[in-house]
Amino acid sequence: MCNQINSIQLELTNKCNFSCKKCSHNATSSFKEFASHKLVEIVSTGFNNLKHVHLSGIGEPLLHPELFEIISCLSKHRKLFLSITTNGSLLSESICEKIVESDLGMIDISLDYSSEVTFNQNISKNYSLNKIHSNIATLLEIRAKTQKRKPKINLVSVLSTVNLNEIANIIFFAGKHKIDNYYLINYNPQVNEVYTPGNIAYPELQSKSIEWRQIAKENNINFSLPPFPVADCDEIINCNWLNNSIFINCRGDVLPCCLRTDDVYAFGNIFEKSFAEIWSSNYYVQSRKSLNENRSPPFCKNCLQLHNRLLPKMFDRNK
Ligand SMILES: C[S@@+](CC[C@H](N)C(=O)[O-])C[C@H]1O[C@@H](n2cnc3c(N)ncnc32)[C@H](O)[C@@H]1O
Ligand code: SF4
Repeated sequence: MCNQINSIQLELTNKCNFSCKKCSHNATSSFKEFASHKLVEIVSTGFNNLKHVHLSGIGEPLLHPELFEIISCLSKHRKLFLSITTNGSLLSESICEKIVESDLGMIDISLDYSSEVTFNQNISKNYSLNKIHSNIATLLEIRAKTQKRKPKINLVSVLSTVNLNEIANIIFFAGKHKIDNYYLINYNPQVNEVYTPGNIAYPELQSKSIEWRQIAKENNINFSLPPFPVADCDEIINCNWLNNSIFINCRGDVLPCCLRTDDVYAFGNIFEKSFAEIWSSNYYVQSRKSLNENRSPPFCKNCLQLHNRLLPKMFDRNK
């Protein structure tokens, strides 16, 4: 049994029905699979202080044929906060009903674009954004009918140079449908985007974010922005992820973080060793030590969570 971990991000599958341009899904192993019951059982019973399981990785979790059995299995042993991230394409009426009846506490729906053209160019040629919009509306209607407040239904967009002019429309959509929260996140460090360290676009972002906050306020939407990059900043802020959280992919590899899912960074495989053995391996111990002493391990290079310490002085992202 492990006492340290309180939060696990569990990848249910690395299969996906979309091929988003900037997602590492395209680069992950060609062998696509689903998380097994055994893996779910290990997660639900192997961690004494587990409080939160987030069902998401590099793939579409709603493709898992036993998704609702997995959710039941995870909530069977003790009270856990369960959440999921989905691309929204598989939210049929019957799936929405099951989601609302399930023990999920939160569902994040990825919505990066407000125009059909950019959606088709960057997310999927074979699906329509309009359909995703109607799926989201269906989920909200079904939850409203049951008068339940759970799961929380959020929208999430990865901020990029391509969608900068579409965010305002997504806030209007969120307001119209009374979405619980809408938040923007950054691309992971592997993607060469303008909004990554070294490539600064502050003036543009600054004026846009003032406009977005205003629209969110007028539309009564809880809206939040990610940390923005600071060029050439070696200062590190505390990241506690390695001390209390893990990412486990559908093959059982224990990886440092949801932003670093490349197999080469795996600390070990949960089917081959106990988590206690993996936790005390030299590589894992040294990685935690580095991070706790403000020296970033190699996989943290360019991570925006770490390199944003100077930001609040320039740009107050909590407002
Ligand atoms: C990898 S997806 C998996 C879940 C589901 N398929 C989806 O798209 O919501 C999880 C989240 O990561 C985001 N994402 C995709 N590529 C990313 C990248 N390179 N950096 C940061 N986030 C990314 C997606 O937009 C989504 O919100
Ligand atoms: S972001 Fe999600 S939907 Fe898009 S390719 Fe990656 S896993 Fe699939």
